[in-house]
Amino acid sequence: MRKLSPLLYVCISIVVALAQPKPIEQRIDSLLKLMTIEEKIGQMNQYNDDWTATGPATVDNDKANQIRNGQVGSLLNCIGTERTRSWQKIAMQSRLKIPLLFGQDVVHGYKTTFPIPLAEACSWDLDAMQNAARIAATEASAGGIHWTFAPMVDIARDPRWGRVMEGAGEDPYLGSRIAYARVKGFQGNGLGEVNSVMACVKHFAAYGAAVGGRDYNSVDMSDRQLFEVYLPPFKAALDAGAGTFMNSFNDLNGVPATGNSFLQRDILKGKWGFKGFVVSDWGSIGEMINHGNVKNGYEAALSAVTAGSDMDMESRCYKNNLVQLVKDKKVSTALIDDAVRRILQKKFEMGLFDDPFRFCNAEREQKELNDPDHAKSAREIAAKSIVLLKNENHLLPLSKETKTIAFIGPLVKAYKQNKGFWDIELPGGDSSFIVSQWNGLKNKVGKKTILLYAKGCDIEGTNKEGFAEAVRTAQQADVVILSIGERRDMSGEAKSRSDISIPGVQEELLKELLATGKPVVVLINAGRPLVFPYTADHAPAILYTWWLGSEAGNAIADVLFGDYNPSGKLAMTFPRSVGQIPIYYSHFNTGRPATDDANHNYNSSYTDLSIYPKYEFGYGLSYTTFSYSNLQLTKKQMTANEQITVSLTVANTGKYPGEEIIQLYLRDKVGSIVRPVKELKDFKKVALAVNESTIVQFTIDKEKLSFFNQQLQWGAEAGEFDVMVGASSRNIKLQDTFSLVP
Ligand code: NOJ
Repeated sequence: MRKLSPLLYVCISIVVALAQPKPIEQRIDSLLKLMTIEEKIGQMNQYNDDWTATGPATVDNDKANQIRNGQVGSLLNCIGTERTRSWQKIAMQSRLKIPLLFGQDVVHGYKTTFPIPLAEACSWDLDAMQNAARIAATEASAGGIHWTFAPMVDIARDPRWGRVMEGAGEDPYLGSRIAYARVKGFQGNGLGEVNSVMACVKHFAAYGAAVGGRDYNSVDMSDRQLFEVYLPPFKAALDAGAGTFMNSFNDLNGVPATGNSFLQRDILKGKWGFKGFVVSDWGSIGEMINHGNVKNGYEAALSAVTAGSDMDMESRCYKNNLVQLVKDKKVSTALIDDAVRRILQKKFEMGLFDDPFRFCNAEREQKELNDPDHAKSAREIAAKSIVLLKNENHLLPLSKETKTIAFIGPLVKAYKQNKGFWDIELPGGDSSFIVSQWNGLKNKVGKKTILLYAKGCDIEGTNKEGFAEAVRTAQQADVVILSIGERRDMSGEAKSRSDISIPGVQEELLKELLATGKPVVVLINAGRPLVFPYTADHAPAILYTWWLGSEAGNAIADVLFGDYNPSGKLAMTFPRSVGQIPIYYSHFNTGRPATDDANHNYNSSYTDLSIYPKYEFGYGLSYTTFSYSNLQLTKKQMTANEQITVSLTVANTGKYPGEEIIQLYLRDKVGSIVRPVKELKDFKKVALAVNESTIVQFTIDKEKLSFFNQQLQWGAEAGEFDVMVGASSRNIKLQDTFSLVP
């Protein structure tokens, strides 16, 4: 072969180099050079589409023109390939043809609706949760969505707060593992994939600690608590590669999160090195005026952009003030460039500059939204999310030979209710794919079983006219199933309740049904831990079903008849009464710990209420029983570089195959900062056949013993630790101690 001349070689190299796609950074540099300041600021604006609103929307009839003028970077609440394509076409008429980013609250599914996140968290099944997020991403991306405002990773310890339904409950360790899994699920193999949606971790930060459980309320919190309890799930989500963060509505110690430099600049973009962008929450930039932290929109925009909020969701403060702020030299071009660079980076990573319509494929949309495997996964995780709270005399599982079953209650024949809050209403509003509880049961029982129905009462209100019919129906049955609870939109954003009992006359209906002497299984549908002393004390069997999504009916039937043996464990403590709130398992011991409910001798108890919750964190029964034995530690002392392996034997000693979630708790007995009485540090979910046993192992390393000291330095202190292994945070089965030595 002839050798190439050096000149020809150089020429070919240049041609090849030019043909190579330039690294994203260079492409952004080139683009930024072309952009006017107005176009740059345009990228920092996110508007609501008119299709639906998830907040107080700004009336704006000029959106199309603004998009054409390059004044909008992103739209939310715009779904479906048809609608997203039509907006993207308009964006392509802009001078620089920068594609729009479509964001949506794909919180627990797109068409296929999975259990509400708090319910899913009770499965403790990280793979199943990751898979649910993966499917949600596959469907949403096929429906034109690029970006989901999820996962919500706010630690929540007050069930009055309606948004507890959206997160993973009260515990930072469990919450962090789940946050990681969900981000991985949403983003799949990476942002360049056409079936990935970019995650948006929210709400940064401490939104879940709103005073009194009242949504949007203030948060006052020590740095120690912030770092130790509220921030870890955010960090875990970041470690999983989350592309964006959303800030929050609350103020934190007097500074609104949206204008909070400590949170966004120092921690997130500084200490943690976050390279993605931060979007404000809906209108939260403008709301800083209401907070009383800034005077007007001009100051609000200045505060937010300085603090690190890169994109303005719906407040229009950036649109109306940033150009002027730059002209007034209050905001530097460098600051704007940094925000815009972060936003463009994600658009490039998602391949939108190469093909702005790559998520708008109607054929793919049809295919993905009708994939039967998605329903199968939804059914499986829904069954895993159910928590069996009570099962006297092994009333459950029901026999498939049962002759007559009365299925009673206001939620039996509901469809949409099963989806819970933050579902997605697809164009056309089709609900026929949702499996009602009635249909689920009908699908399950054989031809010989007679199914009877009575509504009994409404979810709310005082009307008892349906009671008599319900009682008559119950009298004809061998077993009664009563489905009661909240309305699906009684939990969710702006749905704080001061009274978290089961609404209306539903518990009175239960009383009447129990008076028939028939065995009654109660299904409690809710978006939060409710308080239901009558039901808890009198119903022989209770399944907490939360809101299970589009396969609710099938999943409930699977559990009722033992085709799936319930394995869910509560991710959030259930109080006995509102008076116990906030209540969580990992509290401090105090100087005068209460030891039992009978003793109120100058100790930290209530004189009129138990110190114990109704159902504790980690609690949940099974149709079978498990024994825990033979706890062994590989050593009783470790240095910071060493590890201890904890092992134990778990056996299925009951009559059904089943899954058990084995929980490892530690207590640092003496710390320079007081340590909680217990902290979850690991867990394993194992499936065991009848009479089968297995050895479960946990590794304890320095990381698991570490905490933030008074100087907010992360580290472990030498001393003694309790190691506790149990079936819940109260039901500790095995215990030992070990020491960390210098
Ligand atoms: C406000 C909510 O706080 C947030 O979680 C949500 O993503 C936005 N609205 C958009 O719907």
